[in-house]
Amino acid sequence: MTFETDILSVFDKQWALLTAGNKENFNTMTVSWGGMGTIWGKPVATVYVRTSRYTHEFMDREDYFTVSFFPEKYRKVLGVLGSKSGRDMDKINDSGLTAKEIQKSVTFEEAEITIVCKKMFMQRLEPSNIMDPDAAKFYNGDAPHDMYIGEIVDIKRKKTLDTANISLSGETNAELFVEEP
Ligand SMILES: Cc1cc2nc3c(=O)[nH]c(=O)nc-3n(C[C@H](O)[C@H](O)[C@H](O)COP(=O)(O)O)c2cc1C
Repeated sequence: MTFETDILSVFDKQWALLTAGNKENFNTMTVSWGGMGTIWGKPVATVYVRTSRYTHEFMDREDYFTVSFFPEKYRKVLGVLGSKSGRDMDKINDSGLTAKEIQKSVTFEEAEITIVCKKMFMQRLEPSNIMDPDAAKFYNGDAPHDMYIGEIVDIKRKKTLDTANISLSGETNAELFVEEP
C-alpha cells in the first residue's frame, strides 16, 4: 500500500472527491482541504467538512469514507460536484461519473487513485480556538468545519496501460485502465 504524491499541493491543486455511503445511498463532494500522515501509529487521511454540507450527514453516519483523485480532464466535473448539493439534485447522476463499491464505501470508475479510510476520530474546528486572523475569516457567519481523521485501510490505483498491443473490442486506441491488485 504505497502512494507517492506532493502532499502539500495534491488537495489544494488537484482537488479530490470525498464520498461516504453505500452504492444505494451515498453522497460526494469536492474537497481541496485535507492531509495525509501518521497518528496513533497509523497511516491516516484527514478531511474538513462544513456542517452545512449534505456529505456531512453521510460522514457522521458511515464508518468508512473514500478520498479519490481524478485526471485533469475531470476538473469541470469536480467543479460542479463542489458547487451543487446532493440535497437539492441528483448531481452524481448528472456528473456522468460511474459509482462503484469499494470495500465498505463508494468510489468512481474514473478515479485515478482512491484512498479508503475507516473513521477514527472527528472533532469540530471550534472557530473561537482559531488564532490566525486569515483562517478566522472563513467563519464570518458560515458553518464550522468538522475534522475527520480516517485510518487509510487501502489505496486503489488505476494504471494507464501502453495500449499499442492491446485490442479492446477492436478499438486499438481506446484509453485503457486496469486496477492494480
Ligand atoms: C475546489 C473546491 C474545494 C472544496 N473544498 C471543500 C472542503 O475541503 N470542505 C468543505 O466543507 N467544502 C468544500 N467545498 C465545497 C463543497 O464541495 C460544496 O459545498 C458541495 O456543493 C457540497 O455538496 P453536498 O451538499 O452535496 O455535500 C469545495 C468546493 C470546491 C469547488
